[in-house]
Amino acid sequence: MPRLWKFYYSMIYGILGHPVAHSLSPQMQSSAFDFYGIKHKFLRFDVQPKDLKNFIKKVRKEKIQGLAVTIPHKENIIEFLDEISEEAKSIGAVNTVYWEKDQLCGTNTDGSGFFEALIKNTEIQNKKEVAVFGAGGSSRAIVCYLKKNNFNVSIFNRNVNRAKDLANEFSVNFDIFDNFNSSRFDFLVNTTSVGMNEDKSIISKNQINGFEGVVFDIVFSPLITKLLKLAKENNNEIITGEKMLLHQGVKQFELWTGKKAPIEIMQNALIKNIS
Ligand code: ATR
Repeated sequence: MPRLWKFYYSMIYGILGHPVAHSLSPQMQSSAFDFYGIKHKFLRFDVQPKDLKNFIKKVRKEKIQGLAVTIPHKENIIEFLDEISEEAKSIGAVNTVYWEKDQLCGTNTDGSGFFEALIKNTEIQNKKEVAVFGAGGSSRAIVCYLKKNNFNVSIFNRNVNRAKDLANEFSVNFDIFDNFNSSRFDFLVNTTSVGMNEDKSIISKNQINGFEGVVFDIVFSPLITKLLKLAKENNNEIITGEKMLLHQGVKQFELWTGKKAPIEIMQNALIKNIS
């Protein structure tokens, strides 16, 4: 990064990942910085795993103000930071880097962003039973937060050993998809990539039959995934995936700036850029 940028832009932020070309964080976060008239650049830092250590040195030297972190660095970045929040420790991954005085800190806003999206978009009172599809990184953040908020979680995953490991770690249930019975749940949450830019659903029309609760798909491209189409046909309440992206980003912006995030503006920026 040319040093000269420092003279033109007082604040440099960015999304760190590999790849990062399709991330919507730049559009979403820039809309919020622009709302406050904050002179900034929100860059895409495409960094390979082998270059992560040197990149973090650059962050310290150039005083890059904040980072959103995505695949494949969420776990590996931890060893290069000075402080890790309790939240990031329990999830075992960092999605946000920020400065506290001269300490480079990491936290995780994925789980809380998911939960904020859930409570802002549906009534959760008296609803406790959640089926989570998937046992990867996103599932880990979501399961951790649901468990912390006293939900009864059951994990279903194609690779059942992964489901078992995650379930044991957070003391929740797991099962195979063949045993999935939607009628016993209040919420279904898809954390797998199934449905992303494809007309596929993690569960079938038959499997959603009889379900009367809320379906949340964290896939946001397309906004109405095949799973959400099936849910609509089944008259279920649905929550679209950009809401989790939005709320994890809202928390990042507030950490970086100490200002209240302009949620509607950020949401519009997201929707405008989702194909
Ligand atoms: P992320 O960090 O986004 O959660 P991940 O850690 O790679 O990504 O996890 C991807 C999840 O999607 C996993 O639960 C994966 O299931 P497996 O553990 O069985 O691989 C799930 N997934 C991806 N493609 C799938 C498919 N075609 N059918 C079912 N599950 C799939």
